[in-house]
Amino acid sequence: MNATIQALFAREILDSRGNPTIEVECRLNNGMQSRAAVPSGASTGEREAMELRDGDIKRFRGKGVLKAIAAVRDEIAPHLIGLDSTDQAGIDARMIALDGTENKSRLGANALLGVSLAVARAAALSCDLPLFRYLGGAGVGRLPVPHMNIMNGGVHAHWQGADFQEFMIAPYGASTLREAVEWGSEIYQALRSELEQKKRSVGVGDEGGFALPVSSNEEPLALIVRAIEQAGLRPGAQVGIAIDPASSEFFRDGRYQLRTENRQLDAEQMVAYYEKLVANYPIVLLEDGMAENDWAGWKVLNAQLGATLELVGDDIFCTNPAIIQRGIDENIANAVLIKLNQIGTVSETIAATRLAQHHGWGAFVSHRSGETVDSFIADLTVALDTGHLKTGAPARGERVEKYNQLMRIEDALGASARYAGKGAYIRAVK
Ligand code: PGA
Ligand code: ZN
Repeated sequence: MNATIQALFAREILDSRGNPTIEVECRLNNGMQSRAAVPSGASTGEREAMELRDGDIKRFRGKGVLKAIAAVRDEIAPHLIGLDSTDQAGIDARMIALDGTENKSRLGANALLGVSLAVARAAALSCDLPLFRYLGGAGVGRLPVPHMNIMNGGVHAHWQGADFQEFMIAPYGASTLREAVEWGSEIYQALRSELEQKKRSVGVGDEGGFALPVSSNEEPLALIVRAIEQAGLRPGAQVGIAIDPASSEFFRDGRYQLRTENRQLDAEQMVAYYEKLVANYPIVLLEDGMAENDWAGWKVLNAQLGATLELVGDDIFCTNPAIIQRGIDENIANAVLIKLNQIGTVSETIAATRLAQHHGWGAFVSHRSGETVDSFIADLTVALDTGHLKTGAPARGERVEKYNQLMRIEDALGASARYAGKGAYIRAVK
């Protein structure tokens, strides 16, 4: 087998928001060819690896990625040609050294990630293995609980909806991934019917969930509980709810500013607010309950709710092993959101996940609000055995492709497939 890299080629394509992003093709000396595309966030953490954009306002309002493409063509490719594609860690380390910056700002995390993903795929093909088996090895077999974002707020709804960004359903009571997807779709359609009956908007936000004006951040929870019941399922027992308020987006001057409710809360009051929601609704996971720079607030949140609820850090950790380690040392959460493009390479993403898991923390794999039809994260989730992921509504091509890929993986696993169910969470779900 000669799985060495022969050529790398990058091009500019469009993502689901209609903005440019980078796609990379990799060809090996054994004839294998792969392709991978890079997603892009909107509510980004300050310490994410830097996505290189051209800043030329004459093209794509400054969002072009021709500089990242040039980085692949002129710098990355010449350094990687001839290397063994199955040495993912070695290739990623080479790119990190070549970039030479703390946050990958010279060559761009988008350039590095496109190459890293394409190389992993080509290597899997060379090994004649599906991507999830190549990345995960002989032990794989657990299918994740899909967290489907069926109501969008915050920046994903252009501040026309709830302050909270994401309201997700978690069909953990299903017996297979396929059945979980079916339940998710039925709940989504039930919610649509309910909104239509009430003559409310059924327009959707960036991740495919309904995005409409609401009177409070509690209202979507009530609507979702009703939709679960309308679909003939039991809220809590069979289907839970997860929320990502993405609170950094509404944290200003030391306060959480809830525009829809016309209230401004300090950290203690915000925690009390969550406690009330958790008491009244079947919430099993809370992501970014506190803002990325409010470490003191996170401490309060974890002290109050961390023993019983999965508390996921997204913007605060940015899939960065060094920051996750600090979070573990300071005991401020119990789970980490895992996003490939927050850190910029496959091997660093694996390291971040392993670090969390090694310390008994949860790892929750995620798409970005700006996506493509690339389904790499579906395979990654199974490979890393994280038990759960979020990848948007059960609608819109770029979102459903991940769920569809998970169903294909379940088929490929056959009798050895196991659905994670309630065991997906780091804190027991009753
Ligand atoms: P983003 O949001 O992809 O727009 O950054 C996702 C999230 O906050 O989890
Ligand atoms: Zn988030």
